[in-house]
Amino acid sequence: MSKVFVFDHPLIQHKLTYIRSVETGTKEFRELVDEVATLMAFEITRDMPLVETEVETPVTKTKSMILAGKKMGIVPILRAGIGMVDGILKLIPAAKVGHIGLYRDPQTLQPVEYYVKLPADVEERDFIVVDPMLATGGSAIEAINSLKKRGATSIKFMCLIAAPEGVELLQQAHPDVDVYIAALDEKLNDHGYIVPGLGDAGDRLFGTK
Ligand code: PRP
Ligand code: URA
Repeated sequence: MSKVFVFDHPLIQHKLTYIRSVETGTKEFRELVDEVATLMAFEITRDMPLVETEVETPVTKTKSMILAGKKMGIVPILRAGIGMVDGILKLIPAAKVGHIGLYRDPQTLQPVEYYVKLPADVEERDFIVVDPMLATGGSAIEAINSLKKRGATSIKFMCLIAAPEGVELLQQAHPDVDVYIAALDEKLNDHGYIVPGLGDAGDRLFGTK
């Protein structure tokens, strides 16, 4: 079974409170999502492999560590996942970015795929799939299906807010994909929205509706 990490870092929790607030406008919402994505990227990259190298300081030669240079891929689920990409790229600037377009049918709540564009060397990359919301879990499960179908074997999923129902389904569908969350909320409402949540992530990020 996959692992679930809920980030309790004070800076993440503080910023998330303002992301949730109905008083927060589009500009500030976007900035905060970007900042939280950077902080989460710092945590999610804890297990990146290192190799030893030699460096010459102004004083002496010494052994020191650098990243082993594993190839990374970031895959936002459109639309709202886009809001997390730049924040992650600040820490992992060499990562390639793929896109998976999915929307949730408002009646059935089932994900509908409309776009996929991934880096060519999918098999060689470690992917982080990002979306601010994990609600029923349908979109995340479908996006990861799509990635795996194209050859990806190493995938993590990162979101701001998750519902317990979505986490459970995602773990069942993809037991090899660890899940990284800023907050695990209470439940879904009758419309499939996370409670307390933050509302519609895409609309809040892009100022639609
Ligand atoms: C939202 C959100 C997730 C999805 C989560 O996207 O950004 O992708 O819902 O719900 P689920 O876990 O029940 O699948 P939405 O479908 O509203 O599309 P948008 O980002 O284009 O607005
Ligand atoms: N999608 C959102 O944007 N918000 C939710 O609460 C659930 C799905």
